[in-house]
Amino acid sequence: MEEKIDGNPLLKINGLALGFGSGSYLPVKSLDLELGQGEVAGLVGESGSGKSLTAFALMDILPYGATVRKGEILFQGENILEYSAKKRRELCGKKMGMIFQEPLSALNPVLTIGDQVSEIFRHRLKTGKKEARERALELLSRVGLPNPGSAYESYPHRFSGGMRQRVVIAMALALNPDLVVADEPTTALDPTIALQIIKLLKDLTAGKKTGVLFITHNLRLLEGLAERIFVMYAGLVLEETAGGLKDPLHPYTLGLVKALPPGPSEKTGKTMIPIPGQAPSPGDILPGCPFAPRCLDRFQLCLEELPELHLLSGGRRARCHKYRPC
Ligand SMILES: Nc1ncnc2c1ncn2[C@@H]1O[C@H](COP(=O)(O)OP(=O)(O)OP(=O)(O)O)[C@@H](O)[C@H]1O
Ligand SMILES: [Mg+2]
Repeated sequence: MEEKIDGNPLLKINGLALGFGSGSYLPVKSLDLELGQGEVAGLVGESGSGKSLTAFALMDILPYGATVRKGEILFQGENILEYSAKKRRELCGKKMGMIFQEPLSALNPVLTIGDQVSEIFRHRLKTGKKEARERALELLSRVGLPNPGSAYESYPHRFSGGMRQRVVIAMALALNPDLVVADEPTTALDPTIALQIIKLLKDLTAGKKTGVLFITHNLRLLEGLAERIFVMYAGLVLEETAGGLKDPLHPYTLGLVKALPPGPSEKTGKTMIPIPGQAPSPGDILPGCPFAPRCLDRFQLCLEELPELHLLSGGRRARCHKYRPC
């Protein structure tokens, strides 16, 4: 059940559109997403669907040339797109933390781990050197680094990918943020380490009322992690599930589930059925549903008119004409 603060969800994104330049190149066309306090929600989609740009918009680190064209990002009820640059900077780090896909590029190669972690306390909380060191050591131990003292003095290149990601998680959680955005935090890791990192993230945020937006292209990772999954395609949310992937509604989500390799509790003989065709590129202007050309359930209207994100039973939503009210 979603927890609200003063009646507001932790995060609510309404109709967010992100573009490059001033033309029709819109990698994110309309994104609607809601996350409660203490909730883990998934944002899933194929490569290029606009997941990272969404995360960058949240953290105010959009790449050069990208701008917010439309929409609102309500964080604890306030539209942070209206904040000054200074206020956004204060928010990111203190109330919002981000975990990046590639831990090595998220860390500075010429500074020790200790300097990078303690700097957060010195710079953001203005603590003295000694206290910052103590807090950094405590944090490094909390994320499961076996020898925090030696890790503190080490440079990132001496660590394995999993260890580096633990450091990045430590930095994202250092100031006890209310929201953590994890953008494919395990893609660069082997499956066993990936599971450890997900468990760590779950353990560290459980009971803390921290909301986690877990971004991935791998639906399997979200099983048992997120009840609510936002499925993105071509810059649009096509489905918002409730109860994970148990009962998908949108033909695209169903296609993704059918294309998955068998899970641990499924028969090994399961046939994986790929979705035929390719996703449109961000500059393509399609009058109808962007998935229609690949959809086996399509009818004429699907090619002509973009469906709304219809609210359905159990708080689920699907952007599909199959579910339009009669
Ligand atoms: N700096 C840029 N200039 C132009 N187009 C860009 C830029 N950054 C991203 N894009 C385009 O925006 C679209 C969405 O990119 P984004 O990185 O958000 O995708 P993604 O869903 O995170 O994909 P992946 O799973 O590969 O990480 C892509 O088509 C990409 O080519
Ligand atoms: Mg990405």
